[in-house]
Amino acid sequence: MSKLSSIFQPFSLGELDIPNRIVMAPMTRGFSPNGVPSDGVADYYRRRAEHNVGLIVTEGVGIDHPAAIGDSGLGDSNQPVLHGEGALNAWRNIVEEVHAVGGLIAPQLWHQGPLRVNGTGLYPEAISCRPSGIWGPTNGSTPFGAGLMEQVSAPTRPMSEEDIADTISAFERSAANAKHIGFDAIAIHGAHSYLIDAFIWEGTNKRSDRWGGSLQNRLRYGVEVIKAIRAVSGNLPIIYRFSQWKQSDFDAKIAASPAELEEILGTFADAGIDMFDASTRRYKTPAFPDFDTSLSLAGWAKKLSGKPSIAVGGIGLNKDIYTSFATGDSATSDNINDVNERISKGEFDFACLGRALIADPEWVTKVGRNVPCQSFSMEQLGSLY
Ligand SMILES: Cc1cc2nc3c(=O)[nH]c(=O)nc-3n(C[C@H](O)[C@H](O)[C@H](O)COP(=O)(O)O)c2cc1C
Repeated sequence: MSKLSSIFQPFSLGELDIPNRIVMAPMTRGFSPNGVPSDGVADYYRRRAEHNVGLIVTEGVGIDHPAAIGDSGLGDSNQPVLHGEGALNAWRNIVEEVHAVGGLIAPQLWHQGPLRVNGTGLYPEAISCRPSGIWGPTNGSTPFGAGLMEQVSAPTRPMSEEDIADTISAFERSAANAKHIGFDAIAIHGAHSYLIDAFIWEGTNKRSDRWGGSLQNRLRYGVEVIKAIRAVSGNLPIIYRFSQWKQSDFDAKIAASPAELEEILGTFADAGIDMFDASTRRYKTPAFPDFDTSLSLAGWAKKLSGKPSIAVGGIGLNKDIYTSFATGDSATSDNINDVNERISKGEFDFACLGRALIADPEWVTKVGRNVPCQSFSMEQLGSLY
């Protein structure tokens, strides 16, 4: 048996049979002018499916709400949406291309919430959705520069009941579109201080109504989104990405203890989540070292929720994402052996790879044959190879 026997084991997530434990991470690429994926996007995903990625999670896809996407502080633009004839036709074609080579694909439903810089995106006039009218603390450890802080620090109108209802039904419409087009699962972006996370995190949610205050109240928005998506998704598995860290504050936490994480994930599991994707910069950093000196966030997610989980962060590479953004490249690493061992011991179920799969579309087949993979460089973000 190969040394990497565990990552090549199939896994059944509900009725979805996933052939191995490699998930392609959601990665915004910006090749979808006016929200419509260009032809190259289909080739890009098909190539990874052809080379045996178990499940592709697409780049963040803006839900059907005018303030869903824009520049979230890093100069990003041209992200796709999942509504309107042009975008839906393009996504249908992408799904068909991935299926034609035996792959599986889930869209990552995304609303940038407070991080969307006002005046950007497909509908620049739409006011960004901030639960409490604030972007978040502007003194956190963050990759954003002082210019952006100045731009986003002025308070805006907190979200109204109507805004809350509108964004929930936008998640629902986009999920219904995903189901209709033939996607295999739904992934929800609930991390990094985007909209759902901004309700959970006390740094962005200062509300005193039923959407703020206690942890259960701060979870209410996520619960309503998950229930709305569940109602229109039939038997499609729903994957929820969460994070402790925020783009606006790397040191932030939504759960100060395993007990709080258990409450968050348990509440979302009860609402309809089938698998948790624990977003970290380094997959094996112990999440609560005072309680366990080696258990990763994905490990805690699985243990506390009873649901399968996905680990992410620097798998296959020797630098984490922000170190490689700062220094421009990242060599390969054989940490997949450690990941394989953690999967075999049941710590988590899937390994999610971001930059390694941008660098090398053949990553899965090469690793299976013990052939060296390409290293990552920032230049690779400029094209859709
Ligand atoms: C170019 C790029 C775009 C990204 N866009 C998204 C995104 O749209 N949604 C998301 O949840 N994470 C996004 N991420 C984070 C990745 O999903 C992943 O968590 C991160 O890159 C760490 O994995 P890695 O070390 O394997 O690259 C992005 C990362 C990169 C490199």
